[in-house]
Amino acid sequence: MKRKTITISSFPLFPLIIFSICGSFASSNKLDRGSSLSVEEHDSDILTSPGKTFTCGFYGLGSNAYWFSIWFADSSDRTVVWTANRDKPVNGQGSKVTLRGTGSLVLTDVDGSVVWETNTTSTDARSLELLDSGNLVLRGHDRTILWQSFEYPTDTLLPNQLLTKSKKLVSSLRGGAFYSGYFNLYFDNDNVLRLMYDGPDISSLYWPNPDFNVFGNGRTNYNSSRIAVLDETGHFQSSDQFQFNASDRGRGIKRRLTMDHDGNLRLYSLDTQSGSWVVTWQALPGLCNVHGICGRNGICVYTPEPKCTCPPGYEMSEPSDWDKGCKPKFNFTCSKSPDVKFVPLPDTDYYGFDVIYNNNASFNFCRQACLDDCSCLGFSYRESERLCFTKRSLFNGYKAPSFPGTFHLKLPISLVASLKPTRNGSDPECSGARDQLLVGSLTLYDNIGKRVRWAYLYWFASAIGVVEILVFFLSWWILFRKRDVQSTVEDGYRMISQFRKFSYEELKNATQNFKKEIGRGASGSVYKGVLADQRVVAVKRLGDVYHDEEVFWAEVSTIGRINHMNLVRMWGFCCEGKHKLLVYEYVENQSLDKHLFSGDFIEWRDRFRIVLGTAKGLAYLHHECLEWVIHCDVKPENILLDKTFEPKIADFGLAKLLQRDGGNSQFSRIRGTKGYMAPEWALNLPITAKVDVYSYGVMVLEIVRGIRLSNWVAKKVENEEQEAELTAFIREMRRRIQRGEDLGIEDLVDKRLEGKYSRKQARMLVEIGVSCVEEDRNKRPTMDAIVHQLLEIDDEPKLPESDNED
Ligand SMILES: *[C@@H]1O[C@H](CO)[C@@H](O)[C@H](O)[C@H]1NC(C)=O
Ligand SMILES: *[C@@H]1O[C@H](CO)[C@@H](O)[C@H](O)[C@H]1NC(C)=O
Ligand SMILES: *[C@@H]1O[C@H](CO)[C@@H](O)[C@H](O)[C@H]1NC(C)=O
Ligand SMILES: *[C@@H]1O[C@H](CO)[C@@H](O)[C@H](O)[C@H]1NC(C)=O
Ligand SMILES: *[C@@H]1O[C@H](CO)[C@@H](O)[C@H](O)[C@H]1NC(C)=O
Ligand SMILES: *[C@@H]1O[C@H](CO)[C@@H](O)[C@H](O)[C@H]1NC(C)=O
Repeated sequence: MKRKTITISSFPLFPLIIFSICGSFASSNKLDRGSSLSVEEHDSDILTSPGKTFTCGFYGLGSNAYWFSIWFADSSDRTVVWTANRDKPVNGQGSKVTLRGTGSLVLTDVDGSVVWETNTTSTDARSLELLDSGNLVLRGHDRTILWQSFEYPTDTLLPNQLLTKSKKLVSSLRGGAFYSGYFNLYFDNDNVLRLMYDGPDISSLYWPNPDFNVFGNGRTNYNSSRIAVLDETGHFQSSDQFQFNASDRGRGIKRRLTMDHDGNLRLYSLDTQSGSWVVTWQALPGLCNVHGICGRNGICVYTPEPKCTCPPGYEMSEPSDWDKGCKPKFNFTCSKSPDVKFVPLPDTDYYGFDVIYNNNASFNFCRQACLDDCSCLGFSYRESERLCFTKRSLFNGYKAPSFPGTFHLKLPISLVASLKPTRNGSDPECSGARDQLLVGSLTLYDNIGKRVRWAYLYWFASAIGVVEILVFFLSWWILFRKRDVQSTVEDGYRMISQFRKFSYEELKNATQNFKKEIGRGASGSVYKGVLADQRVVAVKRLGDVYHDEEVFWAEVSTIGRINHMNLVRMWGFCCEGKHKLLVYEYVENQSLDKHLFSGDFIEWRDRFRIVLGTAKGLAYLHHECLEWVIHCDVKPENILLDKTFEPKIADFGLAKLLQRDGGNSQFSRIRGTKGYMAPEWALNLPITAKVDVYSYGVMVLEIVRGIRLSNWVAKKVENEEQEAELTAFIREMRRRIQRGEDLGIEDLVDKRLEGKYSRKQARMLVEIGVSCVEEDRNKRPTMDAIVHQLLEIDDEPKLPESDNED
């Protein structure tokens, strides 16, 4: 009793628990046959488990609604773990729970009607007992168990409570209420433990990942015993081979596994000092993976905290109730092509409910299929895999940078026209509903989910500066250190240091076991992946190089500190035995060579921007950055382009890293790519930053001409004449530049530009390119000088149609 009083004084937020002050009654853990607990005496008519962990009795919410429940006595918000009558609350007057002479435990409302009963009929039922495990049991005379609450879980599983074939956890409808919601944890009939959204309109499985099969998710369906249990050390084991450990694994901690109202399954540990809950495991890292969470037509987006929004042309069906989703602002009549338009929603998908699925369809086929179907509301198309899905219902909408497709929403043309002005800077689909927090709103988690907030914070750590974070972090730390010291420190650390070490397991999961190769180079293959926090990354697997872990650490963290907009950012690395991996930011638009030498077309303005950006990146590496870095392998393959065609140089810093195992002499092995390599390499002269200038020069000429000049050299073994061709070309250009002659720019510049380029800039680029490929490295300009030259002519008018100044 004393202990409870202390809890109350430090948590005046919860006046409900004042009851325990007046409890001079020695509350027992037993209710004998023939007696009852009445709702009027809900403060004193309670059962308390022998260890005082759990309490059972009438739990009131609102003005006059009571539930017969079991709750944690020590948690500050009296967290309920079981409820008998979750969907039928009883009156605050006259309701009672009675262990009848017939052997049945019965809950009656004010009018005497039976709201709930155990249906036991044994005449030797002796008493109802609340055990230390949180189990409420009805015992017979030889202490046999006739009925137990552990057999009828609501949304929570306690340690040692078995989850079996016939049982499921069902979430509450919303935070702080008991009514049954739509998210279930249960054993499916293929023996796999799953999470399902089972809503009024649809049901949909969302965990484990529905894109993979049972074994792909690390489960098995061979074991039909269908049993799962959390033990008292925080280890969870299910018969389908799924298992996890609480992050604070160990004995003596009070835990609960709860199917939360936001659709995530979380394991919580009780901080007995503060009475608050800490998340020590959760099933889904991102809430947008929960199905049904934003209702029909709704889209879940990370902003960065997850929120529900409506797509363009749609609005919320009912204010503040996302379960109802969004409704169209138009009336869909069966309209044919002239009257409708498709609005693309990038990185967005609606999961499931496909009408047509085609795995080798052109975009136009997909579009036409949706046009031809009156009820089609839109289609999802993935360019890279030629996947086409048309939909008549839009559910499970989410937007994530990792999603490799675009959803094309069908809207009346009249509506599209009126939408245009609102599409100003911000995402069109985020308009209007932007401020609506998702169901799992932060405030609801005030006392339970500190962790959740930290996860969000980590998210925008990249957006706001480290200083702000530090201030933020400090104030949080001061506020909350008492409650949750350990997790705070750990998450704080992760938040501040952007650059970190990853485990091999983490990267294996992120890349789905290195499934999607997006590039391959001399130093290793690159795979696309998505981290648990939804950041999209490129993971580079280094070949069998470099054995000394400490040196690797030091080297890699030097690269990690290099930060420039024209250099691909390194976020971390992994070094576990033979596994050496580097984790980079993912750059959307592939490498320059894919655009320059294929059918793709890059307009002049973007070409100039690439030339300038690359020069800035190299100048930063050569002259400004922490360590003086030579790239040694500048070529179009290593220039990545972002959405706006801003170049980012990849693979820098690796020269030093990769050559370390090959003896002591600096750069003893030749690096680089034929055709872009400076003569110093062949002549065995000392390697300086000028090797990068040479390679850059070749690349600039290629950007102007739109063809591979470097090939001329690469093929020289078979054909000496081609080598002569490049040398002759450069000699001729140099001669004309020196004499101030006309360069014949029209013949040089990529014909695909159809004359749409600036002659002045083109001439300057040719001059720079030629000066960079001087045989004598001392005659080549520095990258700094090149940046200055380029900046002087960067103010050209945008895309001159007919520019005749040269
Ligand atoms: C008792 O029986 C009723 C009627 O069959 C049923 O609705 C109720 O769920 C049963 N109660 C329990 C605890 O099984
Ligand atoms: C099935 O799973 C249960 C619970 O995890 C385990 O005790 C049992 O040994 C498993 N059976 C087989 C055949 O693997
Ligand atoms: C949990 O911990 C136990 C004992 O340390 C270990 O054997 C098991 O592999 C762990 N499980 C997971 C999923 O990490
Ligand atoms: C849709 O049709 C209904 C009934 O025909 C009408 O009341 C409503 O105003 C229409 N809505 C729009 C946006 O045209
Ligand atoms: C996909 O379709 C194209 C054109 O219809 C065809 O040439 C190609 O062979 C198909 N690819 C596969 C894998 O079926
Ligand atoms: C778009 O945004 C810019 C700056 O934010 C503003 O000046 C402009 O008026 C906006 N345009 C429309 C159509 O809202």
